[in-house]
Amino acid sequence: MRIYKAKDYNEMSRKAASIIASQVTLKPNCVLGLATGSSPIGTYKNLVEWYNQGDLDFSQVTTVNLDEYKGLPRDNDQSYYYFMNEHLFSKVNINKERTFLPDGTEADSDAACKKYNETIHSVGGVDLQLLGIGHNGHIGFNEPSDSFEKETHCVTLSERTIQANTRFFASEKDVPRQAYTMGIQTIMAARKILLVVSGEDKAAAVNAAFFGPVTPQVPGSILQFHKNVILVADEAALSQCPKSI
Ligand code: GLP
Repeated sequence: MRIYKAKDYNEMSRKAASIIASQVTLKPNCVLGLATGSSPIGTYKNLVEWYNQGDLDFSQVTTVNLDEYKGLPRDNDQSYYYFMNEHLFSKVNINKERTFLPDGTEADSDAACKKYNETIHSVGGVDLQLLGIGHNGHIGFNEPSDSFEKETHCVTLSERTIQANTRFFASEKDVPRQAYTMGIQTIMAARKILLVVSGEDKAAAVNAAFFGPVTPQVPGSILQFHKNVILVADEAALSQCPKSI
């Protein structure tokens, strides 16, 4: 694992964006695994800026997102499709037909998950997977559990995740209770993983995931077994990690 210590959210975002930009430059037809949440917003902002300056070309890039709320249509402003469109897809020259997310409007969970697994296989897997991490150590929407789920599955969100995501909705009752998410095996199959994290409220989760035991109770801890993980975190998020890093 490589750790880049940034002084704050902006520096974290620039560093993460530069890693993604290198990937796109070195392999213009790469597959990017993308994430939502507040952690990667600054990263996307930098990518859009560099695209506008003529330094990046997304025309051959394919993307697969980690997750989507079950039950939210694409035009709902809290759907992850809407988020991706707002922060990246509508702002760069990516071919929208090459951008994939689980279908939140598919009520049949098995069908939705099967279809998304097929999509991920058909694009040839992920070259670089961008991740954030939840306060309870979740990645994508892989919540703490007794076992690691392998492929795309339907999850019931934990109370903690619902609370954390309430800030984006009018009220807690509007937060969907279920989501479709890529599984741990799929995330681990990415050739490179880039995790961005900022803020003191994430410090315990970062320490548990990267320096604690590997356990499905802290889903992000599985990343310790990946051979090409880059953690880009600000000082506050690293504040509970061993002093030696
Ligand atoms: C959400 C998303 C995750 C994200 C996490 C942290 O529930 N499903 O992909 O990494 O929570 O979000 P944030 O970056 O807003 O703290």
